[in-house]
Amino acid sequence: MIIGEDPVLPGALEVATLGMTMRFGGFTALDDVSIRVAPGSFHALLGENGAGKSTLVKCMMGFYHATSGQMTVGGREARIADPRDAHALGLGMVYQHFTLVPSLTAAENLVISRRDTPAVIDWARESRALRDFMAAMPFRVPLDQPISRLAAGEKQKLEILKQLYLGRRFLILDEPTSVLTPDEADEVLGHVRALCAAGEISVLMITHKFREVTAFADEVSVLRRGRLVGQGRVADLGHADMAAMMIGTSAARTPLPRQGAAGPEVLSVRGVKARDRSGLKEIAIDALTVKAGEVVGIAGISGNGQMELMEILTGQRPAQGEIRVAGRPYHATRTEAQALAVRYLPEEPLRNACAGRMSVAENIAFRSFDRNGAASRFWLAGGQMRARAAQLVDAFKVKTASLDAPIAALSGGNVQRAVLARELTGEVRLLVISNPCFGLDFSAVAEIRARIMAARNAGTAVLLMSEDLDEVMELSDRILVMSEGRIAFETPAATADLATIGHHMGGHA
Ligand SMILES: Nc1ncnc2c1ncn2[C@@H]1O[C@H](COP(=O)(O)OP(=O)(O)OP(=O)(O)O)[C@@H](O)[C@H]1O
Ligand SMILES: [Mg+2]
Repeated sequence: MIIGEDPVLPGALEVATLGMTMRFGGFTALDDVSIRVAPGSFHALLGENGAGKSTLVKCMMGFYHATSGQMTVGGREARIADPRDAHALGLGMVYQHFTLVPSLTAAENLVISRRDTPAVIDWARESRALRDFMAAMPFRVPLDQPISRLAAGEKQKLEILKQLYLGRRFLILDEPTSVLTPDEADEVLGHVRALCAAGEISVLMITHKFREVTAFADEVSVLRRGRLVGQGRVADLGHADMAAMMIGTSAARTPLPRQGAAGPEVLSVRGVKARDRSGLKEIAIDALTVKAGEVVGIAGISGNGQMELMEILTGQRPAQGEIRVAGRPYHATRTEAQALAVRYLPEEPLRNACAGRMSVAENIAFRSFDRNGAASRFWLAGGQMRARAAQLVDAFKVKTASLDAPIAALSGGNVQRAVLARELTGEVRLLVISNPCFGLDFSAVAEIRARIMAARNAGTAVLLMSEDLDEVMELSDRILVMSEGRIAFETPAATADLATIGHHMGGHA
């Protein structure tokens, strides 16, 4: 059932670009790219961080005006001046960063996303229509909670639901599963794939996960440095073929070996209690410790209290109980964090750890800015700051047109690298990280994981919260499972059993 805003005919759309080129000043982000997504097909778009994937789809959606090139929709030339034109033609997009209004509920977000929303909304009628719509949908999201209380996985499902609600016939998904567990990803993509197979929609999906390409896509296109460097039917290509197309050569770095034994206790959390994001349930951590030179990984399905634990540890959520760092009481004030060398890498770093409109240099070199984005510019002289930023950009391979570009103009993966460059530099006694490889291409993933391992080997205590079980297995010395706000299970990584962990993640004790 379609409650869409626009009189779009049902049926999957064919969408194609022809010689699409996009320049930002002297920099060519997209160079003569022609891609055709057949009606009803599930087309994957691969490429390293900064390859031009987001730029291509933003051009298709009318967010950017391509320097040259054309588009066809349903076989006819389409002139798309802005996203409204794209929507009117039945094109929709789910962005790499969330676009939902945090203070409104899921239901409110859906209803106001329509262009035909009446000035006075008949909520009884809308609720009935929404219930019908949801009943026909393959996956669910709590409709009556404010978005700010939803976990990342739930927000992503809602973003996709919103497009279907709006009756879109061609869906662009920009890394739709970065914040989902493998099971959630399979569920969502399985449903999207079924909608394609039924001829309801066509999909162009940007992803870094070969597994998803193989499991769900029909066709794949690969970008490298703005150029289309490979294309083919997924059935004819292995992961090695796709990797080779992406980076030109093979050989990703192997992670650093694990060295040295754990030292004294650095982080100790005892009897900590707090409300969860819904305000209805409780987060209760009886005992959690991390030693110097140890990685403790917290596995869990999104929405089981990881976000709240991160907030407690960063001082953003009031809690009872005791937190100590290096034996001293810790309340996560900035002074304490600096004195005790505690560093954080939160989820959605562009929003939570950057001042988006400030430059790459400022964002990397200043560690003293506020989480809300207000900056203070006092402690490094300009020249020093630039030199330091230039070093870090180089060392962490952050792709940016210039040090002065606003950090929000970087590709998603490069924002992540920039924040990691800042947080992993200098003396770090305790590192608290959440989903550090969200949105990174496979060679960057290997690199970042190696850096985390190097920090551990140098004696840093690392608390890693990740929804990527492979990542938890690869990096951790000890693994905890979080379920319903509690630590439900603990095991040394060396003897960890995936099935048992999965069992506890699912809440089956
Ligand atoms: N508005 C902009 N101004 C200047 N440069 C930009 C702008 N948008 C993108 N770029 C540059 O274009 C290049 C391609 O970026 P894009 O976001 O398309 O990469 P991507 O393939 O989506 O990467 P990722 O996997 O990291 O998301 C990058 O070098 C980026 O810095
Ligand atoms: Mg991108």
